[in-house]
Amino acid sequence: MYNPLVQISKEMVQRIIKESSPDLQAFIIEKKNKTRIGVIVKARLYELLEIGYFLIPSERKKGFCTEAVKIFVDFLFLSKQIVRIQAVTNEKNLGSQKVLEKAGFIKEGIVRKMMFNRGDWRDCILFSILREEWKEPKILKIQL
Ligand SMILES: CC(C)(COP(=O)(O)OP(=O)(O)OC[C@H]1O[C@@H](n2cnc3c(N)ncnc32)[C@H](O)[C@@H]1OP(=O)(O)O)[C@@H](O)C(=O)NCCC(=O)NCCS
Repeated sequence: MYNPLVQISKEMVQRIIKESSPDLQAFIIEKKNKTRIGVIVKARLYELLEIGYFLIPSERKKGFCTEAVKIFVDFLFLSKQIVRIQAVTNEKNLGSQKVLEKAGFIKEGIVRKMMFNRGDWRDCILFSILREEWKEPKILKIQL
């Protein structure tokens, strides 16, 4: 609905997951019973770390993505010496914005005409969470 239209084969997705590099890593979102329901990714450009996520439609609006983002943020701040994590959403993607806010991200501003979606250039909203705002793990209690 809200992202640029990209066509990507199953094989390409499998390759990204298998050969994930520090610059682009994808993780599967699983339920406790091991059902695979989505993907959460991190991309790095120099010191900039950005996350993105996707859930299968039947598992949306059940709180799973909020939980996945909180766990991912815990994992990234615990395992890396980073000061900031960011995410960008189409300004119309209210679900994604709510996920980020519930996971402690702060709205930083509008990135104008950042993506082409459904026939037009769309403004996006840039969110971030700083290490000092995160303070401590919310879900992941283990020391990595
Ligand atoms: C956006 C997306 C990741 C949200 O995941 P989710 O698991 O459904 O989100 P949650 O259940 O954790 O919901 C968090 C909050 O957002 C709300 N919400 C979820 N989807 C919403 C929607 N489409 N419109 C408005 N609010 C929405 C939920 O009701 C919840 O609010 P509440 O706690 O006040 O009830 C999911 O819809 C998705 O995969 N969309 C397609 C891919 C995508 O847009 N990825 C993000 C790209 S930036």
